[in-house]
Amino acid sequence: MSDIIRVLALGDIIGHKSIEGIKQNLSTIKKAKMIDFVIANGENASYNSLGMSRKNYEDLISAGVDVITSGNHIWKNKEVFEFIDKVDRLIRPINYIPSLPGKGKVIVEVKGIKVCVMNLIGSTFMDAPFISPFFLIQQEINNLPEDVKIVIIDFHAEATAEKVAMGWFLDGRVSLVFGTHTHVQTADEKILPNGTGYITDIGMCGFTKSVIGDEVERSLKRFLLGLPERLSPSEEGNFQMNGIIVDIDTKTGKAVKIERISYEFEVY
Ligand SMILES: [Fe+2]
Ligand SMILES: [Fe+2]
Repeated sequence: MSDIIRVLALGDIIGHKSIEGIKQNLSTIKKAKMIDFVIANGENASYNSLGMSRKNYEDLISAGVDVITSGNHIWKNKEVFEFIDKVDRLIRPINYIPSLPGKGKVIVEVKGIKVCVMNLIGSTFMDAPFISPFFLIQQEINNLPEDVKIVIIDFHAEATAEKVAMGWFLDGRVSLVFGTHTHVQTADEKILPNGTGYITDIGMCGFTKSVIGDEVERSLKRFLLGLPERLSPSEEGNFQMNGIIVDIDTKTGKAVKIERISYEFEVY
């Protein structure tokens, strides 16, 4: 019997048609790549690419996502306040101030092995009140039950240096640190010397004719005129699925292989 858990992590899913893209393609990828466990960032799943509705949550879970992470946009669809404490597969950054609803980590069983997924938000260029991610993550790791060997972190952060620093900080203490939030995939996937898989940003699940997932014309107006313009998820071009596939040894909790993926599909 295999002692590897193969994880697929997908970047920020942007809007309704991207959820359709996930519904139409995820199960095929899971079968073809023999994926055991799927994590996806859902902070942009709503109709206006801000936040997540209950239906978005249910659609992603029934499409085959096991755990949904999020980030700074999670509060922007007000519906989330009604359901975030009632569902068990949606997490928000663990280092938000404790009075906010929701939770920042989840422990699930995959092939009989406990897997912990945590969500962290970066401190650079983020305006939300939060506790230092470096301070808090140490505490959280130290407090995990003994039998949890596999720990995966979605580090939702803007600055590449902060993400790289977090990778080194956690090397050998967690299985995988992957970045989200910029929506642009970086080409620096690696296994750090003490066995932690790492990539600065896994990218997005959104449409190719876009500015990081939003309609080009509306985004351009913001830059050309400097006026507030409501953004809207692009539905033009191909559906681009960005992420990583990582093999984790169940005995050691270390990453043994990391592959960056970027697929394009037509969505009907
Ligand atoms: Fe995002
Ligand atoms: Fe974000």
